[in-house]
Amino acid sequence: MNVRKAVIPTAGLGTRFLPVTKAVPKALLPVLDTPVIHLAVEEAAAAGIQHVVMVVSPHQEAIASYFDVSSDVARMLERQGRAALIERVSDLARTVEITYVQQREPLGNGHAVLVAKEAVGNEPLAVLLPDDVIRGGESTIGRMIEIYQETGGPVIGVAETPEETIPQKGVVAPTSRNGRVYEISGLVEKPSIEEAPSNLAVVGRYVLPPEIFAALERTSPGAGGEIWLADGIAALLKTHRGTAYRFPGELFDTGVPAGMLKASIREALDRDDMSDEIQAYIQDLAQ
Ligand code: UTP
Repeated sequence: MNVRKAVIPTAGLGTRFLPVTKAVPKALLPVLDTPVIHLAVEEAAAAGIQHVVMVVSPHQEAIASYFDVSSDVARMLERQGRAALIERVSDLARTVEITYVQQREPLGNGHAVLVAKEAVGNEPLAVLLPDDVIRGGESTIGRMIEIYQETGGPVIGVAETPEETIPQKGVVAPTSRNGRVYEISGLVEKPSIEEAPSNLAVVGRYVLPPEIFAALERTSPGAGGEIWLADGIAALLKTHRGTAYRFPGELFDTGVPAGMLKASIREALDRDDMSDEIQAYIQDLAQ
């Protein structure tokens, strides 16, 4: 079945990025000048997704304003003949339909996906956690959708993680490999280094069959009292063929300031209008 919809949860508290997230949704924090939510929607659109279900908290009107092509700012720029400055946003907003659903309390990323159940309906879905920014190469979620079309089971984005970070991650258990694609038998949350079935850590990209909703409904709150998407997927893997995709791009965890800064520097070094200036600055600092 074709994957037409993507769920993007943005309703978390973003405590690791306080104080700014006290007033600004984490999804609107920019990699240089572009909010991470824009990058996630762009990745979904590049994969042919037609409909994004955005899971927001009750105080995140700013996210809808960002994608609103008829906002005061958009109209003013148009009047001034400067609409090109925000064309990237308006083009994107016209390419995909965005529906907003509210998660009243941050009860976990699995709970956030569950509140999108009605908006998605009985069809497969892509899930993108916007903090995980992937640079370079093709649309990661696009390749994962192709894999889903062959397997019909959960497809999980993974990246190799340094050994010392394994106890903080979800790690997949591969049984065989074909290039970047692994058949997997399960998913272990926060294993010890000795018990970890691999060094392939789960990244915020998933393509899931509609049965994920029933699995999440049966999932009890886990660590921190939250309902975790990983627990719902682990349950699904008992009955469905699971696959992991080790994507080729570079991963940035923009949910923490250091990761966001690295992503911004990387982006600046790719921009013709500032690359020399930033490179010279970094060299100065290093001396
Ligand atoms: P994180 O666990 O990284 O985000 O969730 P968080 O809880 O906002 O951050 P910290 O740990 O307090 O710093 C990954 C994604 O899932 C969303 C977040 O907004 C983020 O995009 N999320 C998380 C929800 O939508 N609802 C939740 O209840 C939890």
